[in-house]
Amino acid sequence: MKRSLAWRVALLLACGASSALYAAEPDRGYDAASAKQAWVLNCMGCHTADAHGIPGKVPPLTGELGHFVRLPQGREFVMRVPGASNSALSDADLANVLNWLIDTRNTQTKPANFKPYTAEEIAAKRRPALTHVAEHRAALVERLRKAGDNAVADGY
Ligand code: HEC
Repeated sequence: MKRSLAWRVALLLACGASSALYAAEPDRGYDAASAKQAWVLNCMGCHTADAHGIPGKVPPLTGELGHFVRLPQGREFVMRVPGASNSALSDADLANVLNWLIDTRNTQTKPANFKPYTAEEIAAKRRPALTHVAEHRAALVERLRKAGDNAVADGY
């Protein structure tokens, strides 16, 4: 009996410690369950379930975004492409799904100092949607190269 009480105390302490750790984690700016739902309903139909895209047609969202968000122009590009800008998602829900994508599908490429998108930032900048997306993308890739980041290919 004594042993099982000690075990329970240990378990309680462990749980307390892990929730304290969790609370100390930096805020990544998303709720995974609602982000997944937003992804499925608003983005996945074109970008595919695992976000690898369709060669020649729809860009992947796995890796590139982590490079784009290094530049202010890239941060804006990501929210102003038509699929994101014109989606039915609220500003908060768009911020949520973008932060989730960056954190979970761009884990290796996102900058260490990435600041999650906020609803306020999205509200201020998502519109108007970009019209000449390819030109904006090419200019952004060029800008990244000038900054020493050659990781994003010209095409997809
Ligand atoms: C109707 C199809 C469609 C939907 C739905 C869609 N996208 Fe896209 N997305 C595209 C295409 C096509 C492009 C390439 C640029 C263009 O032509 O708009 C693109 C480009 C992008 C890019 C730029 C990536 C790059 O490498 O250039 C991002 C970021 C993006 N989409 C995010 C989203 C998010 C987030 C959603 C959901 C809220 C979404 N898209 C919904 C088709 C779609």
